[in-house]
Amino acid sequence: MANDDFEKLVREAARIIASSQSSVALTGAGISVESDIPPFRGKHGLWERYDPEEYAHITSPRKDPGKVWQMLGELLLICRDAQPNEAHNSLARLEKMNLLDGIITQNIDGLHQKAGSNEVVEFHGGNSTMSCMECGTQYHTKELSLEIIPPRCECGGVLRPDFVFFGEAIPHSCIERSIKLASNCEVMIIIGTTGIVVPSAQMPYLAKSTGAVLIEINPEKSAFSDIVDIFIQGKAAETMKSIMSNIKS
Ligand code: OAD
Repeated sequence: MANDDFEKLVREAARIIASSQSSVALTGAGISVESDIPPFRGKHGLWERYDPEEYAHITSPRKDPGKVWQMLGELLLICRDAQPNEAHNSLARLEKMNLLDGIITQNIDGLHQKAGSNEVVEFHGGNSTMSCMECGTQYHTKELSLEIIPPRCECGGVLRPDFVFFGEAIPHSCIERSIKLASNCEVMIIIGTTGIVVPSAQMPYLAKSTGAVLIEINPEKSAFSDIVDIFIQGKAAETMKSIMSNIKS
């Protein structure tokens, strides 16, 4: 995208966000790429090295916990060290400025909360807690050593993170909160998602059907790019930084 076009679209996005009564963000793995967390799909994506059918299906942790914990251990240690980038920080700032009602995130990395956002729906759950697959006892991840895997409960059962595996239901409360946010917003900012995993991918369609303006930020086109009103081809952190400097000025 030519620089002039980028600047023009950024200015337009900033104007729309600043003048709206209610904006909502839908975020995916791409927003955390500049925090050095790999995405799932595409170049250097997690699914390039780990087949999701084998490693991320609801049956996987019970079938072969040692194998699945190779992937989980790697992912959780990366998330533990990662810091929010300018895109997470900008969304947190927009919330404080009363310009953002909430974030629907597909990410389990907890970076929106680390950045200071309060209204975050973790559509696929989060990494802050784990549960024993035998007795259900819940643990705080930060209190567990992930050096020895798989981590075990006091009862001897293997723990699993409390995020959603493929084939597992999305918590009802997350769906309800997301539908409320998406159907009431005037603007939806879609950042860093391919838009191919349902039901989270239905949220922009819901927002659009109730008249919301859709703004998308992604270096590549996604499943949403043809229905959005503004597509800004760019990385999340640098684009959000430019949008914020236009909102302030
Ligand atoms: P993907 O890994 O499928 O896609 C990452 C998206 O981020 C792509 O559209 C990239 O073009 C974009 N991207 C890459 N770098 C970026 C950057 N610097 N700034 C902005 N965007 C960038 O991630 P999701 O669509 O979020 O589900 O994946 C959805 C779900 O699929 C995940 O939540 C996970 C996965 O399987 C479960 O685990 C249930």
